[in-house]
Amino acid sequence: MSVLLRVEDLAVAYGHVEAVKDVSFELKDGEITALVGANGAGKSTTLLALSGLLPPKSGRILFEEEDITRLRPHEIVRKGIVQVAEGRAILTTLTVRENLALGAYTRRDSAGVKDSLEQVFHLFPRLQDRAEQFAGNLSGGEQQMLAIGRALMAKPRLLLLDEPSMGLAPILVQEILRTLAEINRTGLTMLLVEQNVRQALKIARHGYVIETGRIVLADSGENLLNHPGVVEAYLGT
Ligand SMILES: Nc1ncnc2c1ncn2[C@@H]1O[C@H](COP(=O)(O)OP(=O)(O)OP(=O)(O)O)[C@@H](O)[C@H]1O
Ligand SMILES: [Mg+2]
Repeated sequence: MSVLLRVEDLAVAYGHVEAVKDVSFELKDGEITALVGANGAGKSTTLLALSGLLPPKSGRILFEEEDITRLRPHEIVRKGIVQVAEGRAILTTLTVRENLALGAYTRRDSAGVKDSLEQVFHLFPRLQDRAEQFAGNLSGGEQQMLAIGRALMAKPRLLLLDEPSMGLAPILVQEILRTLAEINRTGLTMLLVEQNVRQALKIARHGYVIETGRIVLADSGENLLNHPGVVEAYLGT
């Protein structure tokens, strides 16, 4: 598997507070990679840097061997790196269909956009059932599905997900993560940040554990699931 994105010695700070320090990891093309860690460990900060929303203090981000460390957020989106917005960030006064159309606003291939819409409706039949409803009337789980669907409408090369299962009932957590695994089988590379460590590592080929801004463990998802330190700190007994 070739490397799609490589992060080298990344440091990101809020003023004097260095939230991410010397973080290095890589995302292999076509794989789900999980980034897990406790509250405040630096997961969202790492994603913000990848999206270009927070300029790194030092380090490099390489996407398909190209240095994208200093690119603007819209340039990074144009490269195909798309972050799923929080479920609550969808546009509540627009319909489900209009929200999905917005995800594709930079695309000019109308046939491809139509295919993507069909794919999203196939993955999330409930969105199809509710296509003409206002997004604000969707349940929390459906709004999260819509947020993922909207990101897919951009036809990304790399999907960044910041806790897609947050706030969802256990049955929906399973449904969302199962759907992410299904999307991954179409070849889409993903970086999955999750509090739900067990479920995330189950669908991830590789995983990294971050603690107070540093990567402390890197292994296959399967090995991390059985790692005593991971079991003790994140999986309970
Ligand atoms: N806007 C900000 N200004 C100052 N410090 C911040 C800001 N955002 C985050 N931090 C700090 O940076 C560190 C990393 O935060 P971050 O949000 O990346 O953690 P996280 O791993 O995403 O946590 P969570 O699981 O709670 O979402 C924390 O110590 C946090 O308090
Ligand atoms: Mg976070």
